[in-house]
Amino acid sequence: MSNPSLLILAGDGIGPEVMAEVRKVIAWFDAHGTSFDVTEDLVGGAAYDVHGTPLADETLAKALAADAVLLGAVGGPKYDVLDFSVKPERGLLKLRKELDLYANLRPAQCFDALADFSSLKREVVAGLDIMIVRELTSGVYFGEPRGIFTEGNERVGINTHRYTESEIARAARAAFDLARQRGSRVCSMEKANVMEAGILWREVAQKIRDEEYPDITLSHMYADNGAMQLVRAPKQFDVILTDNLFGDILSDAAAMLTGSLGMLPSASLGATGPNGYPRAMYEPVHGSAPDIAGQGKANPIACILSFSMALRYSFNLGDQADKLEAAVEKVLADGLRTADLLGPAGGTAISTSQMGDAIVAALESLH
Ligand code: NAD
Ligand code: IPM
Ligand code: MN
Repeated sequence: MSNPSLLILAGDGIGPEVMAEVRKVIAWFDAHGTSFDVTEDLVGGAAYDVHGTPLADETLAKALAADAVLLGAVGGPKYDVLDFSVKPERGLLKLRKELDLYANLRPAQCFDALADFSSLKREVVAGLDIMIVRELTSGVYFGEPRGIFTEGNERVGINTHRYTESEIARAARAAFDLARQRGSRVCSMEKANVMEAGILWREVAQKIRDEEYPDITLSHMYADNGAMQLVRAPKQFDVILTDNLFGDILSDAAAMLTGSLGMLPSASLGATGPNGYPRAMYEPVHGSAPDIAGQGKANPIACILSFSMALRYSFNLGDQADKLEAAVEKVLADGLRTADLLGPAGGTAISTSQMGDAIVAALESLH
C-alpha cells in the first residue's frame, strides 16, 4: 500500500522557518514506521513572486489530490502594495474555498509548564482545554455582493455577511461530533440580537442539536459577551461553535490563554476526499510574523502541533499524535522556550531550530 500523501506549502515569512522544524518531525516518524509521501509547492507571496498569482492552478490541483495539506503562513509587508486579487491571503482563502474546508478546528490548550506565561492569572488558564470550531468557507469573508464601489461622490466598501441553513448545519454537526469525544457541551456564538444571519445561525444550531444530538448540551451566547467570557473564565467552555469572522477574532484571543500565538495549531476539514481521507489542511493560527521573520526566533510549536492534528484527524494515528504532543509537553516542562514564551521573568531563549531539535530529541527519549 502506498503512503498517504502530504502537500507542504510553507509560504512566507516565518512559514518556511517553522515548516523546516516540522520536516524534522516528519523525518523522525518516517524512521519509526509512519511514513508519508511529501511534496512541496509555493503559496502566498512566494508563489506570486514566481507565478504572478498566490495560488497557481497546478498547486491547487496538487492540493485537491493530496491526502492532506500542511501550510505555514502567508503574507507580509512586501506584498501590501499588490492588487487585492493577488494578495498572498487570497491564495489561502482560495485553498479553503476550493477544498471546501468548512470546519476549522482551533484548539486552545494550556500546557501546565506555560500556565504562568499567559497574560492571565495561572488559576484562570491552568488546565484549559477548549476547542473553537470556526465556520471557514462562508460568512462575510465570501458573501456577495462585495467590493469597493462609487456612490455619488464617494466610495463605499461592501462585504456581505451571508449564511445558508446548510452551511450553518454542517459546521454545527462538526462541533457536535467533536463535543461527543470531549465534554459534550457546545456554546454557539453569534450576534442574533443585531443580525438576521445570527438569528438563523441560532435557530439552525438548536434544530440540529434537538433532532440529531440530544445528548449534547447546547448554549447560545452573543459573540461580544463570548469574547469577554473567554478572558474572564475560559474554562467554562468545552466546544465553541462560531462563524468565520467571529471565529478568527475569538481564536486569536484564545491564543493568549495558552501563553503565545506561536502555540496554536489548527485543522481545516471538509468532506471525504478521493482516497477516503477527509479533505484537510493543517496550519498554525498565526501569520507570517514579519517582525521576527529571518531571525530564527519563531516558535515552531503551532506548526508542529498542526502536523499532530493531521496525524489525529486525517490519518487516524492518534497514538502517534499523543506521542508528539507528549514530546512538546516534555520540552516545555524541561524549561526550553523560544523568545515568545519567556514571559515577564525573562530567561534565555532558544532558536526555532533548537526547539525543533529538542522536540525530536524528546520524541526519541519517549520512544
Ligand atoms: P501574525 O500572527 O503574523 O503576528 C502577530 C504577532 O505574533 C507578531 O508580533 C509575531 O511576531 C507574533 N507571532 C506570530 N507567530 C509567532 C510564532 N510562531 N512565534 C513567535 N511569535 C509569533 O499576525 P500579523 O502581524 O497581524 O500579520 C502578519 C501577516 O501574516 C499579514 O500579512 C497577515 O495577513 C498574515 N496572516 C497570515 C495568516 C495565515 O497564513 N494563516 C494568519 C494570520 C495573519
Ligand atoms: C487566519 C488568518 C486568515 C483569516 C487570513 C490570513 C486570511 O487571519 O487564518 O486566522 O482571516 O482567516
Ligand atoms: Mn486570524
